Amino acid sequence: MVAKMIDGHAVARQVRAQCREWTMTLAGSGVIPGLAVIIVGDNAASRIYVANKIKACTEVGLKSTVYAFDASTPGNVVEAEIRRLNDDPTVHGILVQLPLPARMDGRRVLAAISRDKDVDGFHLYNVGALVQGETMFPPCTPFGVQKMLEYENIPVEGQNVVVVGASNIVGKPMALMLMQKDATVCICHAKTRDLAQFTILADILVVAAGRPNLILPQMVRTGAVVIDVGINRLPDGRLVGDVDFEGVRQKASYISPVPGGVGPMTVTMLVHNTVQSARRYAELQNPVHPELAWC
Ligand code: GUN
Repeated sequence: MVAKMIDGHAVARQVRAQCREWTMTLAGSGVIPGLAVIIVGDNAASRIYVANKIKACTEVGLKSTVYAFDASTPGNVVEAEIRRLNDDPTVHGILVQLPLPARMDGRRVLAAISRDKDVDGFHLYNVGALVQGETMFPPCTPFGVQKMLEYENIPVEGQNVVVVGASNIVGKPMALMLMQKDATVCICHAKTRDLAQFTILADILVVAAGRPNLILPQMVRTGAVVIDVGINRLPDGRLVGDVDFEGVRQKASYISPVPGGVGPMTVTMLVHNTVQSARRYAELQNPVHPELAWC
């Protein structure tokens, strides 16, 4: 068996086309979806991620603005800017690029974002809503994985899902989202003993551990669906995921590559969440307008 590749660019194109349609409908009623991106310090990777987010917004017709702060900026200054953006009706999404400088209280900064504009889904209210299966803003990377599974018509209900990685950004929300779809979910992490005895049970294996070659072919059940969320730069400059791609693709039924798999989806789902937030805003402004119905 050689796995079918899940093309993240193709899935992203489809989602972005839908977002563009929604954006055009919104423009008809005078609403342009607006995203504010806050970046603190000069983390090189963060700067690249932010540039990609702005580019994706522009392509779909959103208005995005970057608020860049020096690494030494006091937390309360950043929080004050967030509160100003909370009150700005032209801004429908606010994102604080992580990581923040270590001396800054990240929880306080994220808590300052209005839960109605929290398009990353990191505010504690939205984390709680996700636990209950009701969030408006599913976190972008696991939301992207879910869209990839849907695009390929891969059923989730009743399937054994193993998530490797228990971060707040990917692993934990991924597990909650798939549990909500009635999967049987197991979360493994850096301290899991004998990882293979769990991964071998997976019908769907989602790997977000940040370790190249963590998942080898003998750890994967024949016919499993393997989604690689890892992004690792090797000493020779190559970008790879957490999965031994060449080995595992001989055993899996579907596999997502790195690059070109989950990566394009993260940015796309941020655009999706921002447009959905703007649609909700428009619906609240004008509840009788049927084509703006918020879903
Ligand atoms: N840093 C790494 N991933 C993310 C993400 O999805 N959102 C934000 N805001 N920062 C990140």
